[in-house]
Order: sequence, then C-alpha cells, then structure tokens
Amino acid sequence: MIPPHGGIKNFSPFDGRIQVGCNVVWSGFFYLILKMLNKLFENASLRKKIHTDVDGKYCFDREVLDIFLNSPYDIAPGFIGPPGSKLRGGRGKDHPRYGRFIYAFGKHYKPQQIVEVGTFAGGTAVCWAEAIKDDPGSQLICIDNDTYSKGTYPEITSRNIDNTGLSRVRYALMNGDSKEMLPNFAKRLENMVDIYLVDGDHTYEGAKADINNGFPMLRSGGFMLVHDLDRDRVMDEATEDHPFPVYEAFMELINEHRFDYCILKYIRKHLGIIKIEL
Ligand SMILES: C[S@@+](CC[C@H](N)C(=O)[O-])C[C@H]1O[C@@H](n2cnc3c(N)ncnc32)[C@H](O)[C@@H]1O
Repeated sequence: MIPPHGGIKNFSPFDGRIQVGCNVVWSGFFYLILKMLNKLFENASLRKKIHTDVDGKYCFDREVLDIFLNSPYDIAPGFIGPPGSKLRGGRGKDHPRYGRFIYAFGKHYKPQQIVEVGTFAGGTAVCWAEAIKDDPGSQLICIDNDTYSKGTYPEITSRNIDNTGLSRVRYALMNGDSKEMLPNFAKRLENMVDIYLVDGDHTYEGAKADINNGFPMLRSGGFMLVHDLDRDRVMDEATEDHPFPVYEAFMELINEHRFDYCILKYIRKHLGIIKIEL
C-alpha cells in the first residue's frame, strides 16, 4: 500500500508506529535503570541495617551476610503465584529480601535436611531449593495445610520448586495440619534436621505447637528460624492474652533452654534465628 504523503521519503520520524516503538524501548530502558537503582539502594541500606537493626547477638556465621549482600536481588524471578494473587507475583511484600536471606543461609550452611512449616506457593522453599540443588545429599520437606493457597498447594509450589532444577526425589510437599504431622516427623527425624523454618500458623497456640513439636528434630548445632516476630505490628492473630503471639512462643523456647538467638529486623516482619546447642 502507498503510504500517505507520497511514499517513504516523506515519512515523518514521529510516525505513530515509530513513536510506539521508541516508547517501548525507552520504557524498557527506564525499567532496567530502575531495577539497577533498586538493587543498589537495597544493598546500600542493608549494609547499614545489618549492624543496626538486630536484636540479640548474631548467632550464625558472618559469611551468611556476605552471601546475602552479594546474591542476585531476586533468587526466583520466574516465581508463579496462585491464580488471582497479584501482590509481587503472588509472593507478597516479604520477598524478595526474605527469600534472599533464606538462600544465603542455605548456601553457607549446606544443610542435608531442611524442614519448613508454612510454605504457601514456595516463596521461601524455592530459595532453599536454589541453595541446596547442587548438593545431591540434601533434602527439603515442606508442610502446609493449603489454607492460604486455597486448593493450589502443592501444585503451584511444586512448579516453582521444579523451576529451580531441584530433582523431585529431593523434596517433599506434605499437605496437612502441622499440629498433627509434626509429632510423627519429630519421631522419624529426631536429631537429624539441620534447619527448621517456622512460618505457618501465627496464633500463639499454633506457633508454640510448631516450635515445640519441631524442636526434637533439630540436631545440636542446627538452627530454628521463625518468621513474624515484629512487635510493632498488630497481627490478625493477636489476642488480649497474647498480643505478640509468634514472638512470645519464640522467646519461651529461648528462655527455657538459654539458647543463643538473634532477631533480624531488616527482614520484613522480622526473622528470628535460634542456634540449637544441646
Ligand atoms: C505466611 S504463609 C507462608 C509463607 C511462605 N513461607 C513464603 O515465604 O512464601 C503461612 C502458611 O502457613 C500455612 N498454615 C497455616 N496454618 C497451618 C497449619 N496449622 N498447618 C500447616 N500449614 C499451615 C498457610 O496455609 C500458609 O500457606
């Protein structure tokens, strides 16, 4: 077709299609710049916060923080959320920083056995998977009762973990109530687990059960990680008797056994870490 205004010579550089093309290129360019700046500011602010925003004394190796600061901003860029979940691709606001820390912890300690309670679509599980995938002896067990993911656990979680390349024989996604499942796991895996992450039921009773029922699985020298300890937030699960339900359950274990611990306040909603010394 002959272009209007008499052919190619008279084509305006501001022709609509060229303009749209330019806009797409500029948008892509600005997107990349924004991503780079985000990563730069993320690291600059974290380098300060790792010294200031901590309760207790660091109870894990410094190398974890080095890996944390030097890891890719997003450990799982292709993450798929359950249908309809839009917030940050279905991972919610806690990620990607929370997941990046999980990755660094797993990468440094090279755990042979990890157990996680509260997996949802796999925001933390994919980061454990990325960390351990090259070590053929290591395994990941996840427990969730599908309350948040509404019929999509374990399928979506499995897709996300498969995308990391971790072979299916190296991970298990258990569907059920942790209060019922953990006592059996604790018998089977007594003193065998290197890392246990608690991020499931956030009521006082639920968190207390997960912490106490899972504790016997941990070997001496292992770690329990507990998410959602932030006392500046009012949790939906807070009650008059237990205004800070997960924090209270976390501190009770520490006070009972005098374990070393720290709370990382630079991880959104705060992540507590307990070093188990038996
Ligand atoms: C905060 S989400 C976990 C987030 C996940 N760790 C991540 O980083 O994406 C809490 C999860 O715990 C699960 N959950 C809650 N109560 C549970 C219970 N009693 N047993 C097993 N899972 C439970 C919910 O279904 C939900 O998926």
